[in-house]
Amino acid sequence: MQIKSIRDVDIENKRIFLRVDFNVSIKEGKIDDDFRIKMALDTIEYLLTKRAKVIIATHLGRPKGKKDPDLSLKNIAKRLEDYVGIEVGFISDSVGSRVADAVSNLESGEILMLENLRFYSEEEKNDDEFASELASLADVYVNDAFSVSHRAHASVSAITSHLPSYAGLLMEKEFNALGEVYHKPKKPLVIAMGGAKIATKVKLIKRFLDKADHILIGGVISNVILDAKGISIGKSKMDGNDRSELENLDLTSPKLHLPVDLVVAKEISEDAESEVVATGSVSEDDLILDIGPSTVDLFSNIVKNAKMVVWNGPFGYSEIEKFANGTDNFADVLCKSDAYKVVGGGESITALDKTGNLSKIDFVSTGGGAMLEFLAGDPMPGVEPLLRDKSNN
Ligand code: 3PG
Repeated sequence: MQIKSIRDVDIENKRIFLRVDFNVSIKEGKIDDDFRIKMALDTIEYLLTKRAKVIIATHLGRPKGKKDPDLSLKNIAKRLEDYVGIEVGFISDSVGSRVADAVSNLESGEILMLENLRFYSEEEKNDDEFASELASLADVYVNDAFSVSHRAHASVSAITSHLPSYAGLLMEKEFNALGEVYHKPKKPLVIAMGGAKIATKVKLIKRFLDKADHILIGGVISNVILDAKGISIGKSKMDGNDRSELENLDLTSPKLHLPVDLVVAKEISEDAESEVVATGSVSEDDLILDIGPSTVDLFSNIVKNAKMVVWNGPFGYSEIEKFANGTDNFADVLCKSDAYKVVGGGESITALDKTGNLSKIDFVSTGGGAMLEFLAGDPMPGVEPLLRDKSNN
């Protein structure tokens, strides 16, 4: 299956609606990690070289249809400006007459960035009218936002029925590299999953129980599974209340590896007193904040024998250094393994980057949940419309 690339279409002087995923990590109002911005630069530079008029749109965070000044894209537009070296116009709306005016003043080789798409509730509802308003700004739609293409949202999915739609260079790269992994997995295949976003991940565990040889689970997602198995997780984070996806999951599968020991503390802080306890011995007032050393050993032994490892998501509260050991040690083990290594998602990439080990990974995906969904074989609402034989364009 091939993807339709912007390289196959004449875009000179055309208005391009470029959907990127600049959902970057923001800490204390500042951009903490701009990996995803850097990864989109090839496409932006390509469009500028071709003298296109570039309208850039993204979401940031989960503002749930409300304007939230902390999630405005103003600073992101500035950061992009630093990278591209030309002015990036910014408008504090995504649709409406102000946006239409700004677009009509846009010259070839110029960039305009729209405000956070998720300030409009229609975006996450995949609302067709909203999509058609966005589409009316442009002649061609380019999706370079692989990492949000597992979401059926207006600027990712519905918009493709209003404009000729193509993949950006990053999307193409992700599609081709992950396609190789999907079609030619090397066995034993190990999937390592941490972090939160349970609703996305639990259903993927089900799919990977068929495809993979081992699934290593840590982070909030393991709390949810331990809890479902009736094992105490104290007052640990559970991330939402939807447990329905767990119902059909075979929690007894020998492929599923959960933490055997855990780092717990009474509070989330660098100064908190922490201890390592066996899984099953977590007290009612404990918070699980990392995997313990025996779990790292267990995971390491499995990784050592793997031919392919795919990793997404931290195994603990890795924003705080004290609880980042499990994730960092796993990252270390992974780098030393001879397996073909694929990593996606912000915190996993940060763990590798901070020890200078990112270059040892064979393919680094901008996607977290999106990468896992793609590899699980789920049709993705943002990718399907870009496939050659699915389109009449
Ligand atoms: C991500 O960070 O994984 C993507 O930007 C999607 O974000 P979401 O999980 O809030 O939809």
